Amino acid sequence: MPDSIVIAIDGTSASGKSTNARRVAKALGYSYVDTGAMYRTLAWHCLQARVDLSDAKAVAAVCRKWRATLRSEQSEVRLYVDGYFPEHEIRTLEVSDAVPHVAAVPKVRDWMKKKQRECIQFGNLVMEGRDIGSNVFPETDYKFYLDASLDERSRRRSADGVDENLAARDQRDSQRASAPLMIPLGAMVVNNSGMTPEQTSEIILTEIRRKQAEAR
Ligand code: DC
Repeated sequence: MPDSIVIAIDGTSASGKSTNARRVAKALGYSYVDTGAMYRTLAWHCLQARVDLSDAKAVAAVCRKWRATLRSEQSEVRLYVDGYFPEHEIRTLEVSDAVPHVAAVPKVRDWMKKKQRECIQFGNLVMEGRDIGSNVFPETDYKFYLDASLDERSRRRSADGVDENLAARDQRDSQRASAPLMIPLGAMVVNNSGMTPEQTSEIILTEIRRKQAEAR
């Protein structure tokens, strides 16, 4: 990896990855990357094009051909398709249901990993996902794995107006053959049940500062 620093934040669904990754990125002045949004964008694009999501070859073919480019805006790196970032469209229940299917396709994961590694062209990053510390940037010294009780995570999702079966999604993410959700080697595990985002991000920032001081 060149001189850019990557902070990898992985974890279960609704474990506070986005909120905390954004907070940490802002505190450090790094760019934020939501890799779940990249997978969601592909799922949305496949739904738009009426691609059969159970056909891995067809999904991989979309990934090879789509015109998807990275852009950095307001300290956030985003994936644009045909010049458009479907910010709201990728948050529907339909896309949430579709995304584990595309995320399980090995060729899709290869494409995403390459694109996600290209994000370092924009400088230091806080990247959140499921396989960042284990697969996308395994060489980084800064790895975090967030989790919280299923009850609390379900409550958080309901508060966002989304009722989904988180246990089923976690199970699909953890059991897929290609780059499954796991605690990366060397990651600090933060179970933030009962914690505020302020408390969680402070734990992460304290550990980053400790490691940075150690590396000096
Ligand atoms: O974080 P999220 O809920 O927006 O992620 C959407 C889906 O994408 C989720 O089912 C897991 C998958 N994903 C993945 O497999 N690898 C990543 N690095 C990020 C997300």
